[in-house]
Amino acid sequence: MENKDAIKLLKDKINQAKNVVVISGAGISAESGIPTFRGKDGLWKKYRAEELATNQAFVRDSSLVWEWYNWRREIIGSKKPNPAHEACVKLEKKLGKGFSIITQNVDGLHGLAGNKNVLEIHGNIWRTRCTSCGIVEEHREKLTTNPRCEKCEGLLRPDVVWFGESLDENILYNTFQKLLESEVALVVGTSGVVYPAAQFADTAKGRGAYVAEINLEKTAKSSDVDISIIGKAGEILPLLVD
Ligand code: OAD
Repeated sequence: MENKDAIKLLKDKINQAKNVVVISGAGISAESGIPTFRGKDGLWKKYRAEELATNQAFVRDSSLVWEWYNWRREIIGSKKPNPAHEACVKLEKKLGKGFSIITQNVDGLHGLAGNKNVLEIHGNIWRTRCTSCGIVEEHREKLTTNPRCEKCEGLLRPDVVWFGESLDENILYNTFQKLLESEVALVVGTSGVVYPAAQFADTAKGRGAYVAEINLEKTAKSSDVDISIIGKAGEILPLLVD
């Protein structure tokens, strides 16, 4: 099917639905200027995300991991939501509680754009968690590569979910509620290789949702969705909500 026809079909599905969910990944923030994890811009120095976003890497060399997160915080701090995020705001205005975003992104751009119903399943890069007392706090200021807890002097870590760690139980529960209720699920800008997020679209589809993928290219999940639209999220999503 041509993109023009696919967009029309999907727009009709969205217009008829009371419950729509967006499952977003790094690609939705790419047009804001934030590098994705995989693909040609995905490397930082010589490291892949999987080599740094782990507790083992943090235990081995917390300064290196903090250097990476500080680099990402600096990039993200200067970026703004793009038309794809804004299209999600329009959908939430229209559907209210019937619209939610399940995002793997830790950049906070969905919230900055104005969406309220956002489940940040991998955490948020602007929060820290003390490895000693566990306190979670927002820290927008520049951090060192050895940031310490103001309460107990313990080493702080980013309040994000690393490979090998479990997702927050409440967030996961709410995520599945939203997936099970959804009539349309839009999978936007994710390579679909990191679990459990990679299985969310299947869960929604299994309960009868119409599942569409919007991505620059075919992904590991393209053959499982109802419709795959190849293009930039910032160009396609606004066409679905206008
Ligand atoms: P990836 O970097 O794996 O995938 C980004 C996807 O976005 C790719 O499929 C691109 O083709 C697509 N893409 C890029 N630009 C786009 C655009 N303008 N419009 C539409 N699509 C675009 O990022 P994620 O799938 O989000 O986890 O990665 C999942 C997880 O792996 C991340 O949350 C992170 C990472 O390691 C942790 O840190 C735990």
